[in-house]
Amino acid sequence: MAETKPATGLNRIFARKSVAQIMSENEKSELKRTLGPVNLVLLGIGCIIGAGIFVRTGNAAALHAGPAVMLSFVVAGLVCACAGLCYAELSSTLPVSGSAYTYSYTTLGEFAAWIMGALLLLEYGLAASVVAVGWSGYVVSLLGDFGLVIPPEFTGPMNHMTTLKDGTSLTTLFNVPAFLVTLVLAALLTLGISESSQVNNVIVAIKVTVILAFIIIGGYKVLTHLPELSQNWVPFIPPNESEGKFGLEGVFRAASIVFFAYIGFEAVSTAGQEAKDPKKDMPIGIIGSLLVCTILYMLVAAVLTLMVNYRDLNVPDPVAVAVDSMGSQWAWFAMTIKAGAIIGLTSVILVLMYGQTRIFYAMARDGLLPTIFSRVHPKFQTPWINTLLVGIIVAFAAGLFDINVLGDVTSVGTLAAFAIVCISVMWLRQSRPDLPRGFKVPFYPILPIFGILSCLGLIFTVEQKVLAFFAYFLIGAIVVYFVYGMWNSKLAKGEMILGHEPRAGDLPHKLD
Ligand code: ALA
Repeated sequence: MAETKPATGLNRIFARKSVAQIMSENEKSELKRTLGPVNLVLLGIGCIIGAGIFVRTGNAAALHAGPAVMLSFVVAGLVCACAGLCYAELSSTLPVSGSAYTYSYTTLGEFAAWIMGALLLLEYGLAASVVAVGWSGYVVSLLGDFGLVIPPEFTGPMNHMTTLKDGTSLTTLFNVPAFLVTLVLAALLTLGISESSQVNNVIVAIKVTVILAFIIIGGYKVLTHLPELSQNWVPFIPPNESEGKFGLEGVFRAASIVFFAYIGFEAVSTAGQEAKDPKKDMPIGIIGSLLVCTILYMLVAAVLTLMVNYRDLNVPDPVAVAVDSMGSQWAWFAMTIKAGAIIGLTSVILVLMYGQTRIFYAMARDGLLPTIFSRVHPKFQTPWINTLLVGIIVAFAAGLFDINVLGDVTSVGTLAAFAIVCISVMWLRQSRPDLPRGFKVPFYPILPIFGILSCLGLIFTVEQKVLAFFAYFLIGAIVVYFVYGMWNSKLAKGEMILGHEPRAGDLPHKLD
């Protein structure tokens, strides 16, 4: 009960929610345990497959790793597996429908939770912008197939030189499709429309079918033209040209880019209360979805870099470019792939923005953000002001900035968040060895330590300007905590009551 007393001085920033407290906060949402291991794997895949494979792989191959981008997927997958196992242990020890924010609040304390909240803004909010830009690339390409051309100035980031297919260059001003899709989806979220697990399963089926079709049909084309296309793999690891450009160094640089393609697997850990047998099913859900995606990603990367030269893949729709290379008789297939990608990317934007609004909601409920973020619309039962604000921020980021910069910042923020999750596992093992753990990280403490070091290692492969932006962002977040969060925290003020009653305005909880 110590946490319910007002904290003073420096103790404020280390104030922690007790395990009993977060359990009781979640008691009110007696969710049905309906999700088995297959549903959990599908839930993970639903969030994972998106702009990472459909867009960013092309950039990683073209500028950093060449065909060896396949190896980058292995590196990024291993880093995620370490973090994933740590997530699995936390979710089996603290089986609340929280996120890394709740875990940090219970383990490392309020300041760490605040930092985690800031990092999750990059992992969810900014990632939604990245996916929206990817969505725009495929929409522009598909509309082009039907002869509908959006003026190219309005399909790219602010002040960005781009070369069109006919070889002419121009400066883009604003990505209108990315901006609009984000606002429309934010409006839908405000009205309470979000994915049920059935819809998720359908969308996963579409995404996986599109990817398998690409692997099979593209693979067939490669096998039937092997002598000439195999030249695209020579050399498999192009020699290093400059810092982070090809060579082994480039493989690691590309790993931090394709790392984006794995973001979302931890959504499985938020379903702790809906898993039939969380102790067994959570690790299966997390590691299973990571494994399935790693295999799919490596196969896509192999086919992609064999079908076209890796240098031609730095485009908004690399998978479509590869299919286009098959000739005009395959135009229908290219359009199908683009349509499937658009459906898949739409759902990822929705899920990421939903996640972002719920993190802000939780932080506002804890007093760390203004109450406006937790105000629930009486009719739609959604945190509507919060959702609209998130929508506007995500839409402007998508409209104004380059996908590579947005994607790199997202990767860095998420890697930092994963490192904190690994630290939290170690902290909880030391401070609460008594807690029953349904799942324990194997090879403890080597695995979480490796997780922390590998996350930090990948962070430092990104460009200096991205690191500088990240540093400013963190400094800004810390300042806001000391100016606002610290003084309004309900936990520090002793306003959090153990076993608090549901209040009017509590959101109905459902799996989205
Ligand atoms: N992993 C998700 C994607 O690639 C965020 O779009």
